[in-house]
Amino acid sequence: MGEKVTFSVIKADVGGFVGHSSTHPELCLKASDELEKAKKNGLIIDFHQGKVGDDVALIMTHDKGVNNEDIHRFAWETFEKMTEVAKKFGQYGAGQDLLADAFSGNITGMGPGVAEFEIIERDSEPIIVFLADKTEPGAWNYPLFKMFADPFNTIGLVIDPKMHDGFKFEVDDLIEKKKVIFSCPEEVYDMLIFIGAPSRYVIKYVIRKDDGEFAAVTSTQRLSLIAGRYIGKDDPVMVVRCQSGLPAVGEALEPFSMPHTVAGWMRGSHHGPIMPVSFEDDTPTRFDGPPRVVAYGFQMKNGNLIGPRDMFKDKSFDRSRQKALAAADYLRAHGPFEPHRLPLEEMEYTTMPQVMEKLKDRFKSVE
Ligand code: F6R
Ligand code: MG
Ligand code: MG
Repeated sequence: MGEKVTFSVIKADVGGFVGHSSTHPELCLKASDELEKAKKNGLIIDFHQGKVGDDVALIMTHDKGVNNEDIHRFAWETFEKMTEVAKKFGQYGAGQDLLADAFSGNITGMGPGVAEFEIIERDSEPIIVFLADKTEPGAWNYPLFKMFADPFNTIGLVIDPKMHDGFKFEVDDLIEKKKVIFSCPEEVYDMLIFIGAPSRYVIKYVIRKDDGEFAAVTSTQRLSLIAGRYIGKDDPVMVVRCQSGLPAVGEALEPFSMPHTVAGWMRGSHHGPIMPVSFEDDTPTRFDGPPRVVAYGFQMKNGNLIGPRDMFKDKSFDRSRQKALAAADYLRAHGPFEPHRLPLEEMEYTTMPQVMEKLKDRFKSVE
């Protein structure tokens, strides 16, 4: 067994190219430069700068633990510097996810998405970082359930003695700001009542029951709940550790063979399939979508990130992509009708309240 290592992924959209479809290479370059400097001065052990659509992720390893002020400040300041580049090149929505005027100790709740855990590194540590664009944190509920609670997806739950006891899931209620822990498989049915409503209940951590080992973590912030108005979806990240008593790499990827329906897409107000794509296809353009997910695979050694491998580039995900495109056509044909458009309660941060206000005197009782 190795040393304690903290794995931190902090992401933000600080400017899009063109519109909200991708990021300009100069922005990514700024991020890598800053990460390189942080590595040189010893703040972090290693890094990789990831991206999906208009979001840039700082994937970092260090020895400072989770919620570390120096790491969070570094991420915030890096996003600020990237925003300056975004402004210089007239990028769209420059600084859009930086919701606070100044950094105040912890980046959580200030706009950027955060997913981190501290682990004891195993001799071989395969880790997959999933980055999604044009969707919300609850998008991970379905794949996490499949990976860690469904034996039809993860045969390891049946076969591997270390997994056979099951996993614990922390589920956060994003509206009431409460959390609850479910122990699976015995509480699967109770848990599904909540996580089947992913706009409100979101899986934050998955922990192995056997020994409390961290297995997965997600970013759970919802920008509209922070800002009190609609400002795009949250484009979440998820980190999953694999193998040796955790889901095999193939079991962690398998849920994405079914491009499940998520909320997001155009103006954050539509349901659509989440399409697994290679790095080069991470640019949502059709109706600003459809939502998509990329998977960065790493082997970590002494905190160093060997990789990434582009995990969804594999041909075996072509069929999933085709399914996603067919589902996209089908849903798009509904235009402004539900269930393509989100239900009313999800529209409250859009023009809906203004239209209601304008028309309120014209509504008469029906008897
Ligand atoms: C969705 C998203 C885009 C924008 C849309 C309108 O998360 O980012 O679909 O909502 O392009 O953008 P604005 O309002 O900036 O013109
Ligand atoms: Mg954007
Ligand atoms: Mg985005």
